[in-house]
Amino acid sequence: MQTNKNDRIAWLKGPAAQCAVPAQRQAHPQRLVLLGAPGVGKGTQAELLAVRLGACHLSTGDIFRAAKTLSDCERTPTMTQALDYMRRGDLVPDETVLNLLIERSKCLCCGGGFLLDGFPRTVAQAKALEKCLKEIQIQIGAVLSYDLPLEKIVSRLSGRRTCPTCKAVYHVDTRPPKMKGICDACGTALFQREDDRPEAVRVRMDVYEKSTAPLADFYRRSGLLVSVSAEGTPEEIFERTMVALQKRQNGVSQKS
Ligand code: AP5
Repeated sequence: MQTNKNDRIAWLKGPAAQCAVPAQRQAHPQRLVLLGAPGVGKGTQAELLAVRLGACHLSTGDIFRAAKTLSDCERTPTMTQALDYMRRGDLVPDETVLNLLIERSKCLCCGGGFLLDGFPRTVAQAKALEKCLKEIQIQIGAVLSYDLPLEKIVSRLSGRRTCPTCKAVYHVDTRPPKMKGICDACGTALFQREDDRPEAVRVRMDVYEKSTAPLADFYRRSGLLVSVSAEGTPEEIFERTMVALQKRQNGVSQKS
């Protein structure tokens, strides 16, 4: 499995930490948002896109999962509360998420570009992102919206296994590691996410319909939305994404 060489430590741990291998500066850095229901495959696509585009995969879910590995005295009360929301499948309050983003706004200026995965998740978060990017004079290139029928999403979630060390994502049937239960990239034992339990999945799907699905309309109105079918293998979806991005880029440059 290909993985992004950048360790993303500044994103995962906050501004006091520095990436050991910073993303390489790109001539035309891509700045993209990935939208879609939990389990549709955003993280999988972000990994593939990160390798091809040289952009950094910035997932807010990964920040919370990284905080889980901290001891009780290292973790702030706000973060402990955030992890409770996550365990249930609920959204973490906007204020907490936005504080994390503001602390990490340096990552949005990264010369490699960025792939925001799992953020924004509410219209309030999208408006806050817009404001933050305006202040640092950066624009989003496109918002990729991935669509898949619910029953396929549920099967993707129930078979997911994740590496706690390098964050690589597998699936027991469709993307199995070479050795059962062991990460190909770093040899760590894989685990099943707590929020992939059926009761948490139900809450996540409801929350998605209520809070996150309206974001597609928000970005359609700003002319940024690019819809991509999430049917097929990860590689097929990736190629479909690249074609859609190229089409959009050609359209944008013809207009300007
Ligand atoms: P987060 O980590 O963002 O999770 P999510 O959005 O629910 O998305 P997932 O990571 O579950 O799925 P994915 O679309 O990335 O799919 P993946 O590629 O892994 O958020 C977790 C929680 O954190 C939230 O519930 C909330 O509590 C909190 N949170 C985070 N951000 C927040 C925010 N901004 N505001 C408030 N709260 C926030 O793929 C899934 C599986 O399918 C894998 O096993 C994969 O191998 C497999 N797969 C992928 N593609 C394919 C394919 N094409 N064919 C077959 N299998 C495939």
